Amino acid sequence: MEFFLDTGIIEEIKEAALLGIVDGVTTNPTLIAKTGRKQEDVIREICQIIDGPISAEVIATDYEGMMKEALVLAEIHPNVVVKLPLTEAGIRTCKELSDKSIKTNVTLCFSVNQALLAAKAGATYISPFIGRLDDIGQNGNDLIAEIRQVYDNYGFTTKILAASVRHAFHVREVALIGSDVATMPLSALKALYKHPMTDKGLEAFLKDHANANKK
Ligand code: G3P
Repeated sequence: MEFFLDTGIIEEIKEAALLGIVDGVTTNPTLIAKTGRKQEDVIREICQIIDGPISAEVIATDYEGMMKEALVLAEIHPNVVVKLPLTEAGIRTCKELSDKSIKTNVTLCFSVNQALLAAKAGATYISPFIGRLDDIGQNGNDLIAEIRQVYDNYGFTTKILAASVRHAFHVREVALIGSDVATMPLSALKALYKHPMTDKGLEAFLKDHANANKK
């Protein structure tokens, strides 16, 4: 399973990179807006820190505009993955880009039918937003399971990238289901280390060691 960091904040990416277990980074227009910088500059800097897939999203909503932006984004670095919304224009653009061997991440996926369209269009990644489904009283993990089943039924190679992951329990659930990737904020990544029994056990080991080595 691959771990991506879901942020545009360079300090967070540098901190996570030190752990050595971050495979890629995803951004979106909201995350880029939080940096107060131009997307191109942020993406270029991220590509110098993490040697893996880096998602950068188009802003245009029409096919011509998406294609234009996508080609500019793809030129930034070979690791750039063009993120496209799951709309008619987005799926058309996805097909065109995959025919050109440009990597794509189809985002804002909320149904298995939408995921099926993205796979048909040759998407490299599909991003189902599980936290936002939970927000409206649906079960985001069920969507990951449905997509896993449909993709496996037909041998689609599009990778499931669980997105809108908010906490460690989401990571646990999508890992059990078989999501290929989970993209998460730094807080969720760091929460994966945590277990009270680990803390308690370590405290006892250190205490016993100190007692045994008293003069
Ligand atoms: O990867 C998509 C993610 O950034 C959306 O997360 O928490 O805004 O639903 P959230």
